[in-house]
Amino acid sequence: MSDYDFDVIVIGAGPGGYVAAIRAAQLGLRTSCAESRETLGGTCLNVGCIPSKAMLHASELYDEAASGKLAKLGIKATVELDLDTMHGQRRDAVKGLTGGIEYLFKKNKVEWLKGLAAFTGKDSITVGGKSYRAKNIVIATGSSVTPLPGVEIDEKVVVSSTGALELAKVPDHLVVIGGGVIGLELGSVWKRLGAKVTVVEYLDQLLPGMDGEIRKEAAKIFKKQGLELRLSTKVTGVTVKGGKATVTVEPAAGGAAETLEADAVLVSIGRRPNTDGLALELAGLTTNKRGQIEIDHDFRTAIPGIWAVGDVVPGPMLAHKAEDEGIAVAENIAGLTGIVNHDLIPGVVYTMPEIAGIGLTEEDAKARGEVKVGKFPMMANSRAKTNHEPDGFVKVIADAKTDKVLGVHIIASVAGTMIAQAVQAMEFGATSEDIAYTCHAHPTHSEAIKEAAMAVTGKPIHI
Ligand code: FAD
Ligand code: NAI
Repeated sequence: MSDYDFDVIVIGAGPGGYVAAIRAAQLGLRTSCAESRETLGGTCLNVGCIPSKAMLHASELYDEAASGKLAKLGIKATVELDLDTMHGQRRDAVKGLTGGIEYLFKKNKVEWLKGLAAFTGKDSITVGGKSYRAKNIVIATGSSVTPLPGVEIDEKVVVSSTGALELAKVPDHLVVIGGGVIGLELGSVWKRLGAKVTVVEYLDQLLPGMDGEIRKEAAKIFKKQGLELRLSTKVTGVTVKGGKATVTVEPAAGGAAETLEADAVLVSIGRRPNTDGLALELAGLTTNKRGQIEIDHDFRTAIPGIWAVGDVVPGPMLAHKAEDEGIAVAENIAGLTGIVNHDLIPGVVYTMPEIAGIGLTEEDAKARGEVKVGKFPMMANSRAKTNHEPDGFVKVIADAKTDKVLGVHIIASVAGTMIAQAVQAMEFGATSEDIAYTCHAHPTHSEAIKEAAMAVTGKPIHI
């Protein structure tokens, strides 16, 4: 009998950690998972992906009714916002899904160690005053909001994404600091519910890391929707007095400062890995310059028996990336071969329209060699046109010699759903011709991907 309490202890029950724990248990390993929150599911289920999508969905329906979009379809309604009920359905969604993970832990016999975990050695931790030893420890502690120096988040007037999900009333003016994913998703929620929203972004375009043409198109669409965009502008300070905020901004390149008055300010300038309080030094571990835990291809840290996945390791901070890494790390621990193709992690922004991308941007693809690009506007897609969703386009980037698809980028109402076929095609090494000759159901938004693939060789039908 081994003197280990568990074969695997996972620290953190977000998408990386809970998935790793469930897979490890499925593979016959004695598994526990330490989590300090009251509920399982991590950032994603409690304060991230799920509650934000609950508010995005509800606010989108409200906007369709309130802005007259439904009336244009012959649906007349008197619309009134009941924000308490909207928040209620958000909380219900979170409760249902976090409870679901608790059920899955019980079903798979994963023990939940409740409390904050800290290392006491290379194979031991304490949680809630008790000590545990395990043959393998997986760090999946996720990330939290990056603070902005000189700006204090009180979660009332100056909020992080967590506070921005829960505002008790629609602010007259919301200033969003950072035109990234959180800023645009949560900015869209409050804009639709009636707030004036100003997005202050340091760079000259929104959504860093995405394809350049997509970023420009996104800015055009958000402006048309009424978001005020202050690009190439930095926030240098926020003061709060009497429940109102004064935000000081200045041109990123330097110049005269000005102030914006706001009822709420969202700080969304990125997230940073959670390692404080883990006592990594007692396990012999350090972090890199960005505070991340470095791993190898198999998710092993520098210390044998200690592994790491999700937002706490380098790479995009996305739930599906964390989940796939969770499965792979458990399989590696069990002696199987767990692999994640980090070149093909899709990114989706759940605004209206949605914005999705996979593989190389056009800029990156061109830097590597000659490419062919095919584009197709959603305006020419019969389903999008019929549904009154004309904004956006699909872009397929292929290698000029081999025709292998290198990247697909989409702005469309259902881009997040459409991107899946592009990811799968690229995972199988598809050429643009493979996609162009794949039969797509009509009428669907996805036909725009087929047409964009046809456009790579200059032969789309509908434009
Ligand atoms: P986390 O989900 O952060 O979970 C880590 C868990 O570890 C936490 O529950 C924490 O309490 C716990 N923990 C930390 N330290 C300890 C400790 N010492 N002891 C015990 N427990 C500990 N991604 C998407 O892909 N799609 C989206 O639509 C999306 N929307 C988002 C919206 C918002 C507002 C935010 C903030 C994020 C969103 N994300 C989205 C990102 C996504 O939430 C993260 O990438 C994902 O949750 C990372 O998973 P993880 O398991 O690495 O960490
Ligand atoms: P982000 O990295 O997406 O965007 C932050 C933005 O803030 C950048 O555009 C940056 O240039 C800007 N910025 C930084 N400092 C600034 C300053 N002082 N003034 C003005 N602008 C400044 O980070 P965000 O939006 O906070 O999201 C964090 C993470 O959460 C992302 O990595 C994302 O992957 C994840 N997330 C994913 C979602 C999804 O998949 N749909 C939804 C929400 C979050």
